[in-house]
Amino acid sequence: MKDLSSPSRPFSPKLTEEDKTLDLTLRPKTWQDYIGQEKVKKNIQIIIQAAKKRGEPIEHLLFYGGSGLGKTTISHIIAKELDTNIRVIAGPVIEKIGDLAAILTNLNEGDVLFIDEFHRLNRLIEEFIYPALEDFKLNLILGKGPMARTMELKLPRFTLIGATTRLALLSAPLRNRFGATFQLDYYKKEDIEKIIQRSSRLLRIEIEPDAVKIITQCSRFTPRTANRLLKRVRDFAQVEGKGKITKDIAEKALKFLEIDELGLESGDRKILEVIIKKFEGGPVGLQTLSAATSEEEDTILDIYEPYLMQLGFIERTPRGRTATKLAYQHLGIKCKNSQKLL
Ligand SMILES: Nc1ncnc2c1ncn2[C@@H]1O[C@H](COP(=O)(O)OP(=O)(O)O)[C@@H](O)[C@H]1O
Ligand SMILES: [Mg+2]
Repeated sequence: MKDLSSPSRPFSPKLTEEDKTLDLTLRPKTWQDYIGQEKVKKNIQIIIQAAKKRGEPIEHLLFYGGSGLGKTTISHIIAKELDTNIRVIAGPVIEKIGDLAAILTNLNEGDVLFIDEFHRLNRLIEEFIYPALEDFKLNLILGKGPMARTMELKLPRFTLIGATTRLALLSAPLRNRFGATFQLDYYKKEDIEKIIQRSSRLLRIEIEPDAVKIITQCSRFTPRTANRLLKRVRDFAQVEGKGKITKDIAEKALKFLEIDELGLESGDRKILEVIIKKFEGGPVGLQTLSAATSEEEDTILDIYEPYLMQLGFIERTPRGRTATKLAYQHLGIKCKNSQKLL
């Protein structure tokens, strides 16, 4: 029998092999299948059309937004629409200027270079990227000391697409090198419902409309989470039910996964509980919170905190995070000192 309590938590920022396969299977390849984010889509379509008319590559684009909101997906669609190759690389992988030179000189005219986790790009590399982005040239320094010479490499006109979960970590000059910056926000309820319906078709699983609603409610309005939950619920339906995802199966599966009706999992609740019980509601600093919950700081910043803030359960103050009245209510904890509450 399949182990339903499998290792990956539904909201984990770390992608398992299973997640990667799921991402690939369900990743939309056309604008039509890329659901929601209408304004961003429209803007990009205009940029593409205008560039095509001029017969030029499009300007450099930057996407920012939480994990699983569709940054990688939209970048692939853009390359497909432009009918060019896309080269995908993660920011931290480019360690030396030589790595950058190798990547850039291997591009063809008009290619898209997609750099994920752009905020983790090495600071030394940043300096070299400016002329590459502006003038399509790379200034290399050959040799050391008094014998050092600089050499200018001409690059093909390429388009950089950067993706980041942390816009604030990019320096202003770096941000300014992008022709346009787009934020991907949480999805609307209706859009997540459509995504779940589409994914169910692709995964060949029958799902009741009420079950779609239940999974949507727990999806944190994030496509990747919706898909992961759908897959877990499908496994549950195949083992515990008759293969169809009914309302009852969806409810049972989510309960089994310890996901509550707002989509909070044990990790979220632990953060709230620690703030409330250990630190009397806060404020508590990120480092302390990370130590007390054994969650990495990045995970708190990228995964837990944005959604808890969206729900209005925690607030960020200059002295740290505080739990709000809503958080106490949700956990059913009485507050001793009600004046303190936000
Ligand atoms: N707009 C969308 N419509 C439908 N599915 C989407 C959309 N955006 C993302 N997805 C789904 O969510 C998964 C994660 O998206 P991805 O682009 O990898 O997110 P990010 O790069 O922002 O972390 C994709 O594989 C895809 O199945
Ligand atoms: Mg991505």
